[in-house]
Amino acid sequence: MSLAIETTNLTRRFGAMTAVSGLNLSVRTGEIFGFLGPNGAGKTTTIRMLCGLLLPSEGTACVAGMDVSRDAEAIKRRVGYMSQRFSLYGDLTVEENLDFFAGVYHLSARERRQAVTGTLERIGLLDRRLMLTDHLSGGLKQRLALGCALVHSPAILFLDEPTAGADPLSRQQMWDLLYLAAGEGRTILVTTHYVEEAERCQTIAFMHRGRLIGSGSPEQCRAEMAEAVLEVDAVPVMPAAAVVRGIEGVAGVSVYGHTLRVFSPMGGGLDRQIQAALTGAGIQVRTVRAVAPTLEDVFLVLTRTAPEGDVGS
Ligand SMILES: Nc1ncnc2c1ncn2[C@@H]1O[C@H](COP(=O)(O)OP(=O)(O)OP(=O)(O)O)[C@@H](O)[C@H]1O
Ligand SMILES: [Mg+2]
Repeated sequence: MSLAIETTNLTRRFGAMTAVSGLNLSVRTGEIFGFLGPNGAGKTTTIRMLCGLLLPSEGTACVAGMDVSRDAEAIKRRVGYMSQRFSLYGDLTVEENLDFFAGVYHLSARERRQAVTGTLERIGLLDRRLMLTDHLSGGLKQRLALGCALVHSPAILFLDEPTAGADPLSRQQMWDLLYLAAGEGRTILVTTHYVEEAERCQTIAFMHRGRLIGSGSPEQCRAEMAEAVLEVDAVPVMPAAAVVRGIEGVAGVSVYGHTLRVFSPMGGGLDRQIQAALTGAGIQVRTVRAVAPTLEDVFLVLTRTAPEGDVGS
């Protein structure tokens, strides 16, 4: 198994605050690796170190076989980076943006023309190539930003929230492009706050307060969740949530429309307690049943139970 990215104790401090703390990460060549975590977890900081844009304070990272501290310039040529606030030029046309990024990578004039046309076709913007970038919709700007990250045919793609704020159709189209790139053997590290997008990755890693707090395939992450989930259908739902929160052994309650998702590190028996407590409070209970955890459940439980650590202080 060859690794596209490997980090050992990767750490980055900004003054007194530690944004990334002792990160050990392995990303296999050719996989789509999803990077999840709440705002401020350290995802962007990690990506910037892996792209050779920011030096680690401590630890090492190897990207495409090169060390980020020693070979930053060589790494920049081998990777594509779509930043969270992507760096398109609004007053250039679609084509000019692609050409600009192709130029950054020192392609010859002929290679550059081919790369730009090929990328325009790939991202479906050939007919809009003369449009001003500022005039594109948000979803198309994201597709163009992906094109700019891909134009020099990098082995590894770093995509920082490539679908943030996009509608479901635009997100689907973006993911089709990611699968196409992965099918060509490229490795993709992608951050997202959409849990259903994490389901599309081969491996996911959860980060919180600068630390890795869980990783594996989506199936593994669900199977290894530390708490059981019960779905409770009861009316009225908000008073039901308040009652269930007061039951011993209940670690968390989320309201989803007409139902509650109840988290507990305890084994069986809780369903009967919930039923009894709700009935005792005069709340009508329709069903209480154990359900399989979703990745959203995994995310919530991991972030709630992660040790506080010294990060972020
Ligand atoms: N240049 C910087 N100087 C000082 N602090 C920084 C700098 N860059 C990031 N940080 C801090 O490091 C922490 C991690 O930020 P980072 O942007 O990596 O998180 P993130 O996981 O990408 O969050 P989000 O999901 O909001 O994009 C935050 O507390 C942030 O304020
Ligand atoms: Mg970020």
